Amino acid sequence: MKKSAFEYKYLNGSKNFKKQVPFYIDNFLTNQEIVDLKKAILDGKDTSVNKNGTDYVNFICPDSIEKKSTEIGNDVYDLELKLLHKSYIAYKYNSEQETILSPHIDNTENIITIDYCLDTNIDWPITICDIDNNFDCNDFSIRPNQALVFSGINQVHWRPKRIFSEGEFCDIVVLSLSSIEADIEKDNNSKVNHVLKYLEINKRPEIIDAFKKYNGGSLG
Ligand SMILES: [Fe+2]
Repeated sequence: MKKSAFEYKYLNGSKNFKKQVPFYIDNFLTNQEIVDLKKAILDGKDTSVNKNGTDYVNFICPDSIEKKSTEIGNDVYDLELKLLHKSYIAYKYNSEQETILSPHIDNTENIITIDYCLDTNIDWPITICDIDNNFDCNDFSIRPNQALVFSGINQVHWRPKRIFSEGEFCDIVVLSLSSIEADIEKDNNSKVNHVLKYLEINKRPEIIDAFKKYNGGSLG
């Protein structure tokens, strides 16, 4: 039966998951794939945007990495997925300013997110909360050439506030997979709709609780 786009919006639940997320993949890329990925990122430098001291680059994903990511997605989820978003994110020293990745659920169709650490010299774990399991939150450190697979639309995630020292860096590649059956174009073409959805999400008790944890408060 064909699914409607509605079923792929926020918090689509665990019903189509064949495997529990998050989980790690060690040695995610081969040496050659790392070389190819770095070249693709370099080739994408024209798309580079700096937001609050962090560089974001969109790039054309090398075929073997796209294939590998899609296979992982289809191993986890029982509807066909394709690679939708690819971002290189270079977190680094930012003049004593806090680098912020506050609690959120992805506001697109990121059913499966592969968070890949290209390289880092710090331990800066991502916290992921399992909404289906009593809002259980766990920290996941990601080492170089290790990937963490989770569900961006179903699991609230964030990194602790951090002031990077000079020389510290954390280079991440985020690969997001979506169902090819979702009506992506229609959803993404409406910016107003997008903002409204985001505001709606921030009112959810799961997000409010995540912010309490993020800001050091207790749940309850
Ligand atoms: Fe996210």
